[in-house]
Amino acid sequence: MKETERATIRTIAVIGAGAMGAGIAQAAAVSGLGVTMIDTDDAAVARGCATITSSLARLVGKEALTQADADQATARIEGSTDIGAARDAEMVIEAVFESEPVKTDLFRRLDALCGPGTLLASNTSSISITVIAAATGRPDRVIGMHFFNPVPVMRLVEIVRGARTSDATYQTTEALAQRLGKTPVTVNDYPGFVSNRILMPMLNEAIFCLMEGVASREAIDTVMTLGMAHPMGPLTLADFIGLDVCLNIMEVLHHGLGDDKYRPCPLLRQMVAAGNLGRKSGAGFYPYPAR
Ligand code: 3HC
Repeated sequence: MKETERATIRTIAVIGAGAMGAGIAQAAAVSGLGVTMIDTDDAAVARGCATITSSLARLVGKEALTQADADQATARIEGSTDIGAARDAEMVIEAVFESEPVKTDLFRRLDALCGPGTLLASNTSSISITVIAAATGRPDRVIGMHFFNPVPVMRLVEIVRGARTSDATYQTTEALAQRLGKTPVTVNDYPGFVSNRILMPMLNEAIFCLMEGVASREAIDTVMTLGMAHPMGPLTLADFIGLDVCLNIMEVLHHGLGDDKYRPCPLLRQMVAAGNLGRKSGAGFYPYPAR
């Protein structure tokens, strides 16, 4: 691919087989792309594949997808525990733990591994794309592709341009998001971008309301579901996203914008310290008994 030209992506590697990585892999495979989904161990890859299988079954059950299309999508996904399997992809989409050192280290490794034409995208929810890109020798080919959970259902992709992201990289990424059936919205690289700059302080404020005894968890959630027509109340949504993820994003906003209005609620800190991370850990603001 020439640096100045928009390209059509046909193969991607997704790094991380958690809820977001599996969702991105699924959306890409359903759209006809070849996908390699990579995680550090076999159990994580198997969990990612199971997430995709049950999500596809759900879509088939709703007649949103035929069984044949679901089978073909499954066949387009290859799992791997070897990061070297990303080497031949035209684009790599990273969806690992939300930590700046973890992501910069990974991008450094991907930069050394992948051919010069490969685009490197991050699904980061708040970390600076410019900082991630600076860990590579190709900052013009690094971009943010921020998906929303559950990826098969949510239609938005926030495309984040770093300070040195090229127009060609941006156009290729925008076209890819459209191919995946998503609506791309472009934002500049700023802490929390737009989505989490607005969402997370709202969730944090709901946690303050709970901590200060303003209302019960159910009452707080009901105010927002019935009063504001949100599909989930803020405490349910925080549990769904993961309280560790919410805390990480609040820390990025607080540190990056330097304003105490973004300080994480002490109750959020305490719950994360206690390992009550929401739905994925079996308990958060609500209990989630193992099914
Ligand atoms: N795979 C496939 N389909 C799924 C699915 C999945 N994982 N999860 C839900 N669906 C489908 C269902 O089949 C159903 O389809 P239908 O409308 O055709 O019947 C539809 O989605 C609704 O699902 P349900 O009826 O089971 O449940 P709900 O009506 O409660 O909807 C929800 C579930 C879509 C998750 C809805 O509650 C919702 O939109 N919640 C808010 C989610 C949200 O805000 N996400 C963004 C989080 S922030 C983020 O991700 C950014 C990060 O940086 C923090």
